[in-house]
Amino acid sequence: MSAASYLGDVQQLVLQASWRRAVHHRVLRFHSREGGIRCLGQLLGQLTFGPDRQACDKVDCALGLSFRGLEALEVPPAYLGLFRRLAPAFAAGAVPRAAARLGDTGPSAATRWEPAFAHRDAHALVTMHGKPEVLAQAVAALDRLIASTSGVESQGKSMAGMHLRAPPGHVDRQNEHWVHFGYRDGLSRPCIEGLLSDDVAAARAHEIHEPGELLLGEARDLGDNPWALPSAPQEVRAFFRHGSFAAMRCIAQDERSFRRALARWADHIANDAGRPTDAAWREPLEDFIRAKLCGRWPDGQPVTPEHLPGERPPVSATRPPMPDFATQDPDGHGCPFGAHIRRMNPQGHEVALSVRPRPLFRRGMPYGPWYDAGTEDAPRGLLGLFFCSDIEDQFEHLLGEWADRMPMGFTGAGDAKDPLIGAHEDPRATLVVPRPKLASTPPGAPWTLHRFEPFVRTLGTLYAFYPSRPALETIINRTWRREEEPWLVR
Ligand code: HEM
Repeated sequence: MSAASYLGDVQQLVLQASWRRAVHHRVLRFHSREGGIRCLGQLLGQLTFGPDRQACDKVDCALGLSFRGLEALEVPPAYLGLFRRLAPAFAAGAVPRAAARLGDTGPSAATRWEPAFAHRDAHALVTMHGKPEVLAQAVAALDRLIASTSGVESQGKSMAGMHLRAPPGHVDRQNEHWVHFGYRDGLSRPCIEGLLSDDVAAARAHEIHEPGELLLGEARDLGDNPWALPSAPQEVRAFFRHGSFAAMRCIAQDERSFRRALARWADHIANDAGRPTDAAWREPLEDFIRAKLCGRWPDGQPVTPEHLPGERPPVSATRPPMPDFATQDPDGHGCPFGAHIRRMNPQGHEVALSVRPRPLFRRGMPYGPWYDAGTEDAPRGLLGLFFCSDIEDQFEHLLGEWADRMPMGFTGAGDAKDPLIGAHEDPRATLVVPRPKLASTPPGAPWTLHRFEPFVRTLGTLYAFYPSRPALETIINRTWRREEEPWLVR
């Protein structure tokens, strides 16, 4: 089968981020198998499959099922057994893994998560993207469907988000998306082989992965294919094939304490540099620190080793390039090793330390208004949605290891967790920011940022399987492979 033809059966949200303005997530609970199957039957015609960027006025709809959801739909035990064996994180669900694998303790502990993420009752996640006005109609239609289908109900509150446009002071270009804490987002766009035209794929070669990093049943970057299932009958293979996993993670952001910390660190660097902490210098200096925490300037430009505090690079009219740490910044003088993007996508030295890339296909969107004097107390954060083919090896590894531990490839001191998303507990932990590398000045001692506090709080995480169209049809029509066949017990 050619790549183009099989991609037509993959849910669109798995394949590409939506550029539509708003999102609505609804968690469903199935009280009975019949109710769940009726609901899926009604939803199937509304789901969006295959790559597409054409029709701007339509609503895109995606459906994920949790392991508890598959149980509630009475998917045969042998199929569930394969999930347990090959996708243990998905089968266990996020709640029991939160503390040990996701760093969710204290205020982020799973016991405090929103009811929508209840371990046993969160069965399906419906996600719709669209323009706000058409999306409102689609949400009303979903409400009617739920109300008229016995055996199904909404679980917890709906979650609605919207892309943020550029903040004041930045050029607001079409199709630019920003997140809270003041950063432009949507710049790194990992993608799978076969999805882009040859010329676009050639220009983005460093972002292209083997399909198996996203889709089950295809080879991964290292050539292995855990979901090949060679001894299973064809219809069993087809059930898993071209499905994908996602972690939906709702994260509240405390912008007030983030900004307080920026101001404190700006004072520290200004004092050190013998510069006044007046308003004219403070804003660019805070942007400089933002750049060091994330690894990109607020408008998305890579942070190079030559950038000085208080300097902003000129804004580019085109999409900022992906940073190439190996050749441009091997020592972390531009993007510190501890910065968010360098942890989430290690390259260069880090890869030489035998760290293999673990791509995450991000499809999230922020919720809540921009932070300003009138909205300081409004709830805001990220409705994160992270697709991959292996939750444990990709999503959990990024959060539980790379975000939570000492930065990789690091040569000096500095033991803070990921500056943006880490569950900071130790006020003495530090992020070390090496001085810019300038031919004219000898390098001085690095700046040390400390007193990190948690700027984010997890409100819930849900692991879901996004079946291909044939797999959904199998669930709805119950055309399972009979269980007594020998493959099922192997
Ligand atoms: C509120 C929380 C978060 C904020 C504010 C945030 C912010 C950002 C920003 C500004 C970027 C750079 C934009 C881009 O390259 O497209 C980025 C990249 C990224 N983030 Fe986050 N993020 C958050 C949570 C997370 C979480 C929970 C994960 C993973 C589990 C994650 C994984 C990534 C990855 C993989 C990249 C791409 C890195 C690269 O390839 O360069 N982020 N994030």
